Amino acid sequence: MNDSITTRAAGAAPATAQINLRLLADGHGIIESHHGDDEQRFAPPADFAAQANVGAEAYVQASRDRLGFWADQARQLHWHREFTEVLDWSEPPFAKWFADGEINASFNALDRHVLAGNGDHVALLWEGEPGDRRSITYAELLDEVSRLANVLTDLGVEAGDRVAVYLPMIPETIATLLAVARIGAVHSVVFGGFSADSLRARIEDAEAKLVVTADGSWRRGKISPLKPVVDQALAAGTTVEHVLVVRRGGNEVDWQSGRDIWWHEAVPQASAEHEAQGFPAEHPLFILYTSGTTGRPKGILHTTGGYLTQTSYTHRAIFDAKPETDVYWCTADVGWITGHSYVAYAPLINGVTQVIYEGTPDTPDWGRWWQIVERYKVTVLYTAPTAIRSFMKVGRETVLAHDLSSLRLLGSVGEAINPEAWLWYHEVVGSSRAPIVDTWWQTETGAILAAPLPGVTSTKPGSAQRAIPGVALDIVDDAGTPVDPGSGGLLVVNEPWPSMLRGIWKDPKRFVDTYWETFGDRYFAGDGARFDEDGDIWLLGRVDDVMNVSGHRLSTTEIESALVDHHAVAEAGAVGIADETTGQAVIAFVVLKRNQHLVSKSEAEAVLRRHVADLIGAIARPRRVYIVAELPKTRSGKIIRRVLRDLAERRPVGDTTTLADGGVITAITAQIEQASTVKPG
Ligand code: WT7
Repeated sequence: MNDSITTRAAGAAPATAQINLRLLADGHGIIESHHGDDEQRFAPPADFAAQANVGAEAYVQASRDRLGFWADQARQLHWHREFTEVLDWSEPPFAKWFADGEINASFNALDRHVLAGNGDHVALLWEGEPGDRRSITYAELLDEVSRLANVLTDLGVEAGDRVAVYLPMIPETIATLLAVARIGAVHSVVFGGFSADSLRARIEDAEAKLVVTADGSWRRGKISPLKPVVDQALAAGTTVEHVLVVRRGGNEVDWQSGRDIWWHEAVPQASAEHEAQGFPAEHPLFILYTSGTTGRPKGILHTTGGYLTQTSYTHRAIFDAKPETDVYWCTADVGWITGHSYVAYAPLINGVTQVIYEGTPDTPDWGRWWQIVERYKVTVLYTAPTAIRSFMKVGRETVLAHDLSSLRLLGSVGEAINPEAWLWYHEVVGSSRAPIVDTWWQTETGAILAAPLPGVTSTKPGSAQRAIPGVALDIVDDAGTPVDPGSGGLLVVNEPWPSMLRGIWKDPKRFVDTYWETFGDRYFAGDGARFDEDGDIWLLGRVDDVMNVSGHRLSTTEIESALVDHHAVAEAGAVGIADETTGQAVIAFVVLKRNQHLVSKSEAEAVLRRHVADLIGAIARPRRVYIVAELPKTRSGKIIRRVLRDLAERRPVGDTTTLADGGVITAITAQIEQASTVKPG
């Protein structure tokens, strides 16, 4: 066991970090968080604190014996074989947690509760967008998962094989993840909003053997087709042998006999007997692709024992999960990490009843979520600032029309929550009573790393507060030196944590380069942050070329690649600009090839916005595409996105000393002015 950190010789700080600190100093892309002596604090209500799962002693215990603390949390799980080692950090940055233990994720989520006599406890309260409902107990879910595990095995899926999942928010999706994990296979969920191209790239990278999908699903009162997208993704031939299809939308789909299998024909008739075997703690659990600073998404790899330990611990500690009484609802889609950690795994591991809703919050109207909270008496709600800001726009009457008195705790994730939205969430949704936990983490971190403890922390609107017990966070300058309170710096994690990513699928070098090269054996998260005088953390936004639109991560390079993929485009620059509701919005600047000037600019804009949506998915569709004559570049020809951001946000352009040709600013400004008189195509 070795928990020591061997810091590499501090060489020259990499260029990226230097540029980015300047970015922080300029205040670009940052939600300015108001704080100072007059800031408001909200102490935990006494009754909440009195019954909270975790108290202040957790910080003391974890700081006294960090590894012992995590070992205690791990022992809350069922181990097929007990571990004797906690952490092996002998080959950083490749950590091993509980490595000689054996565990089964699905057994922990299901069998354990049924064996304890809680089979009749409700696991899922599901509501479809059209209003259909299902209530599924732990015993029923175990039955379904066992049958599916047998089907997967019959289809030739073995431990270590990858299974791509392209499904909406339906109970079968949860069953799929648990069945895949049960047999030691590795799931790779692709968000249903991604295009056929994005799906194909992810299937190919993971070399998936099977795809699980649905015919279609309900979205804004219509069927959004899924199986046709899978067909298109597989058209050119891949490693996929079978496609298992849930009937949900009832929409007509093409069928490739031999390859395609209906869920309802295969699963119900399979045996419900399936013994879950233990797999090594470091056995891969899933891959989840996320955008980085290059055009190619990274397959973030998570393994089993440490991931289950930290997701379930944080769910108990930060969401105060109470299996007998809570009705928990996390609104995230399973296509994102939040939907993995805090929908598919932690709540079930902790034996909680949870709500799952298929559709959009505005269908049939903006009252839908609040109607759901009222109907199921939701006690803990976990959602994103972008959703809260949408409800603020709609107006509090829509929320207040419902009885929300069951809510006792509220959570936020995806981006920094601006104090105004925090206060509204607190007052309108939480009746000025329910504590709010703002949770900072990432796809890579697997579980929450910073948040308040709701029974302990006096919360401050806009601050993610503290590293959780057992996690060591710091804020440093680009030489790796801790910065003073009040100064912006880069957020790093000083020591390995149980649910940390174990690598990037098939690309160990990129894993090392992306997260570990900058500061030796400290993990560099890509976020700017500062500590205030009380030691509370304020997140300041990404310091790399990653955008955050509605709490979803998008890469500027990926969008630029999609644009230049179009035959008419010579060059493209994409930036995220501040947006009141979505946090950031994508704005692109495009130089067309010479012979393309015949089409009108608004037509070109329409075509290119659609092209990006077709190539990546609707979430990446730029808000505007400005057709310009040239882009701001350095003398060496590198596009200066900072200048584009200033121009798009219509503020004075900052430092222009690196600009090769100053005239470009006037030219682009004129082009933006002209374009703004035309509606985006
Ligand atoms: C990035 C990670 C974690 C699940 C959702 C997004 C930003 C996330 C917060 C927060 C400030 C936040 C960061 C982070 N972020 N939560 N509470 N306060 N920023 O997961 O797609 O991996 O994105 O989202 O910039 O690096 P993701």
